[in-house]
Amino acid sequence: MSEALRMSIEENPTEERDSSRGAARGEDAGFLWDFWYPAARSSEIRGRGLAKAMLLEVPLVLGRTDEGASFAMRDSCPHRGIPLSYGRFDGTNVECSYHGWKFDGSSGQCVEIPSLTSQDKLKVERIFAGHYPCEEHDGYIWVYMSSPGSRLMETVPRAPKLATFSERYKSTHLACDLPSHVDQGIIGLMDPAHGPFVHQSWFWRSKKSIHEKAKQFEPIPFGFRMSTHSPSTNSAPYQLLKKMTGAPVTTTIDFILPNMRTEEIRSGKLWFSSLTTVTPVRRDLSRIDFVAAWNVPLPVVVFRTFAKTFLKQDQETMIKQAEGLKHNPRLMLIDDADRPAKWYFALKANLTEARRTDGEMVHPMDGPVTLRWRS
Ligand code: FES
Ligand SMILES: [Fe+2]
Repeated sequence: MSEALRMSIEENPTEERDSSRGAARGEDAGFLWDFWYPAARSSEIRGRGLAKAMLLEVPLVLGRTDEGASFAMRDSCPHRGIPLSYGRFDGTNVECSYHGWKFDGSSGQCVEIPSLTSQDKLKVERIFAGHYPCEEHDGYIWVYMSSPGSRLMETVPRAPKLATFSERYKSTHLACDLPSHVDQGIIGLMDPAHGPFVHQSWFWRSKKSIHEKAKQFEPIPFGFRMSTHSPSTNSAPYQLLKKMTGAPVTTTIDFILPNMRTEEIRSGKLWFSSLTTVTPVRRDLSRIDFVAAWNVPLPVVVFRTFAKTFLKQDQETMIKQAEGLKHNPRLMLIDDADRPAKWYFALKANLTEARRTDGEMVHPMDGPVTLRWRS
């Protein structure tokens, strides 16, 4: 599998200070806890090496035991706070670099404090490093970010998985950083109206190809679906697919809280599937992770070239937008082109309210609805 593309973004030191000040004051950063997020690519953990990551402003240390189970701990020793990632990992335990306390990677439980004498009564096994459920698939280390200070739910759901529809397929990953709050990244991801302006290209579409569209959406648990339909006929790749199979092309796009867009394109036996997440790293930094799989006869390098172009266009736009957002402008959400963004904010608010009151989550849509826009 080819290497992930990382497009680095220059960080603004002033913003960095501001963001940590907000964090110190305990201001709500608008993150959704108690969900799975991709923390790193699987390839970032090699052998007994430890990898660093950050999710929702929580520093993490990631590793993989000799048995092959990946794990995630808070990158902070419970003794004096030095990052555990400076320590050593022997395949089972992480040893802190400061006083050598050892923690079991799979549970975070302290197993040894070298300074203790036989007289000491301290119950070592009652000490835990911060520890998070971890799963590894689709080439990602997924970490379940349980809310700070809460007890972990008895049953944690399984981490999201990319849908695939045959034994053999090709796949690839891409990633890029966005200098913005996760909300801006997500509404950008679900935004239907920027295509003709941001993604102009000979192989996709031009400003001139803009035309009116009507798409049906329906509510699904924690999100909404652009109901299965035949995609835009003005896009060359779809026309080609139809020619190859002779069967109609259908596509289904879902958005699911906290941050996930999935897309399935099917035509006869051929399929393409993708999973895109926008993950909050800090309140002023997010990351788009994109993994796709397909059995259509499309070489990985060709697909990557196109996908990179798309992602880069989105990233460049978000960098420009972040420049404007620094000055706290008033923003607008219009009908119908911004309705998916409104649903996202409503889903998020309703989930937060349901959790606060321990009640049922109210879905912002009461049934299927047709949205119309030009793009
Ligand atoms: S700070 Fe980690 S063992 Fe003391
Ligand atoms: Fe885009």
